Amino acid sequence: MQFLSLYLSLILLRVCIIEAIQCSIENQDRVDCYPETIPAVKEHCEQRGCCYNSNPNVNDNVPWCFFPTDYKAYKLSDYKTTPHGFQGDLTLTSGASHHFVDEIQQLKLLVYLETETRLHFKIVDANKPRYEVPIQTPALQKAAENTAYKVDVQNNRFGLIVTRKDTGVVILNTTIAPIYSDQFLQMSSALPTNDIYGLGERHGGALVSTNWNRLLFWARDQRPQENENLYGDHAFYMGIENDGKAHGVFLLNSNAKEIELQPSPALTWRTIGGILDFYVFLGPTPEEVVQQYTQVIGRTFMPPYWSLGFHLCRWGYGSSNNTWDIVKRMREAKIPQDVQWNDIDYMSKRLDFTYDKTTFDTLPQMVEDLHENGQHYIMIIDPGISNKQPTGTYPAYKQGIELDVFIKDPRTNAPISGEVWPGSTVYPDYTHPNINSYWKNQLSGYEDKINFDGVWVDMNEPSNFVTGSTTGCPNNQYEDPPYVPHVTGGKLQSRTLCSSSKHYNETIHYNVHSLTGLLEMKATSEVMASIRKKRPFVISRSTFPSAGMYGGHWSGDITSTWPDLRQSIASVINFNMFGIPMVGADICGFSGSTNEELCIRWMQLGAFYPFSRNHNMKLTRGQAPVDFSTPVQVPMRNALLKRYLFLPYLYTLFYSSHINGTTVARGLMIEFPEDHTARKIDEQFMWGSGLLISPCLYVSSSRVNAYFPRGLWYDCTTENFGNKINSQGQYETLSAPLNGSIPLHIRGGNIIPAQYPELNTVKSRKQPFILFVAPDNTGKACGQLYWDDGETLLGDGSIKHVAIDFVLLDNTLSSYASNFNYTESMMVSDISIFGISTKPKSVTFNKKEIVKTEIVNGNTLRVEVSADLKENFELKWV
Ligand code: NOJ
Repeated sequence: MQFLSLYLSLILLRVCIIEAIQCSIENQDRVDCYPETIPAVKEHCEQRGCCYNSNPNVNDNVPWCFFPTDYKAYKLSDYKTTPHGFQGDLTLTSGASHHFVDEIQQLKLLVYLETETRLHFKIVDANKPRYEVPIQTPALQKAAENTAYKVDVQNNRFGLIVTRKDTGVVILNTTIAPIYSDQFLQMSSALPTNDIYGLGERHGGALVSTNWNRLLFWARDQRPQENENLYGDHAFYMGIENDGKAHGVFLLNSNAKEIELQPSPALTWRTIGGILDFYVFLGPTPEEVVQQYTQVIGRTFMPPYWSLGFHLCRWGYGSSNNTWDIVKRMREAKIPQDVQWNDIDYMSKRLDFTYDKTTFDTLPQMVEDLHENGQHYIMIIDPGISNKQPTGTYPAYKQGIELDVFIKDPRTNAPISGEVWPGSTVYPDYTHPNINSYWKNQLSGYEDKINFDGVWVDMNEPSNFVTGSTTGCPNNQYEDPPYVPHVTGGKLQSRTLCSSSKHYNETIHYNVHSLTGLLEMKATSEVMASIRKKRPFVISRSTFPSAGMYGGHWSGDITSTWPDLRQSIASVINFNMFGIPMVGADICGFSGSTNEELCIRWMQLGAFYPFSRNHNMKLTRGQAPVDFSTPVQVPMRNALLKRYLFLPYLYTLFYSSHINGTTVARGLMIEFPEDHTARKIDEQFMWGSGLLISPCLYVSSSRVNAYFPRGLWYDCTTENFGNKINSQGQYETLSAPLNGSIPLHIRGGNIIPAQYPELNTVKSRKQPFILFVAPDNTGKACGQLYWDDGETLLGDGSIKHVAIDFVLLDNTLSSYASNFNYTESMMVSDISIFGISTKPKSVTFNKKEIVKTEIVNGNTLRVEVSADLKENFELKWV
């Protein structure tokens, strides 16, 4: 008896030891095995064959239920070389079981060595196709040689290890077993850094917390708040390694997802459909990561020049005369404005493609007046098409039925109805092959009445004010999947359509829901280009990777508060990383009433959003610049004039983004990844690599504590023009009085093309150019200017344009212009060279002595010239 009990206790001891080994995992390294609830219930956890260890503190989010080290895994076999890289078979081994139904036993691993800096790998069902996102990615001929990365695989318990060859840093290590069942796919990876950026759309700072941070991806009509899934889905992150090298990882999957970051640091992707389709980008600079990413998802659209101007909108003008009145008052007050918008109040009974002939009777005339004054007009379109108008009276519904382009109810096969602004509505299926002809009919029919220039596509998550549909949703595996990411509303159908709604070819909404915005943008952009034969301009609320090819985005229904003013910078930085550089927030805030001080600060900041639009909600106070007193208008006007001054630079950045995939507005971490202070900053940002914007973002403050990464920086506010900061990487207190200029600095090493501002871009494009030349510590600088007529489609590349390089070397500024048949005048009248405090003995322009030179502010040489930038020039001083 004694012997038996000794034996049993030995066995128990052994079991405990084994368990201790399998489950002995540091808190920070635990991968959650029961993500459904925090904390998990012991019994549920153990049913899953996972380790359970309750944590003393329930608030720190450390999982109580976590995977043991020997959890059931896939075994890799038949791993062999292919023309593109490698492939292998993955077979699920037995072991501790997991709970997800329909585990896929046989998978295929496909590894593509796409370029020297781009790795692509997919894990697919070996026996039957699963849903894959239909965006066009680069075709591959053969595997790249001399890759910057090394791919190792672990066979017995499958995992993939991607290492940066030159530094040995492990970018990805997925050796924690992946799970692959029909409706739950999961993969975890160790991260080489805590400095992670991107992953959106989300409300929060630019740096993503790795402290048990769960992010949600499922397009939703959701007022931006932290920890909620918002309008867009971008499962792309950039990590900056300790030495400043950057990498990016992208999961191409459109199903509802969750990404969980933990402090080890590590990251877990969870998706409830599709396949695991990953891209890894090796940079090594952050800009190169974004370029490599946009090479896969598509380069950005080239915006028309006018869209770079200031846009004004509000919900609730109530009439075309009120709208027109604002435009007229803006003109009288001499405040720049390029574009006037209307929200849904222009529509008759809130019906798309109509306008209210009573309250908006003068809309066609107002639009003509805008055009005559070199301004443009944009109106809103929502995806919900009313299905309750008297039969035959509403073409948008009638034609949709004829072309069979509405999303269908799986129970009846008839269009599924939800509820949006006009009441009961049906929804166009943007995956349908007939969609462009349907959309073209609607937009061109409307254009016959109103000569609009761009389209604002809103509510396209798609939003639905009732859950699922007006008649509820069926009960099935797509409405109630085995695992639901922690989406706002708790259910996939919350504030949208039923997940089992049917799209073209029986595709379920479950798979394509988050693609709605992207596909609507694509249809709208293509149709607008074909109607107007000019560059389209589309702004969308919902986005998905590759949306930047078709338009821009604004950050939705933020509040008129100081925190939301500050937070808007992170969203601009993020969307630039997502390949959607035409982005901004509602200037002065959308919901709640703004106030003078907040709105001045917001106009100062918003003048530097790539997409600069002031918009607010109905029944809130007017917040157009002309809704404020004359003294308040002064700093608002000045901020906009500063924007207009730098538009040639902004346009050149957009062109570079279109051609090379670079960001337009960028966080300091993009330019200064080696600077660990710069990596944390998201209350300042840059235009390109040359212009630093340091807005004042705090109530009652008239100073900015701004960070200057190492190098020379030249002040370009009117007040302190040319003042130089020679930074070792330091903070400076800048004066920023409410009625003064927003702090702006040009970085040494840059030449920035500008143009005397005007009240709209038609006028400003005719103004003389200015060059701001900012030498670095070695007296060198360079810059570019791209110029064309601002609206012709770039298409086949035959557009008439000029591309100019400017180079400063040895006190000589040279320009090298390549002119592709552009004939308009491009006169330059002023060149300012920072960092020169005494007048040179001689200044020559194309070898001729210049008469008009002066030293401005004791620090800048300003020379007056008269030359056409299409011709090369040389400016020399001794
Ligand atoms: C929601 C949009 O986010 C907002 O900008 C717009 O004003 C309203 N819809 C009304 O159309």
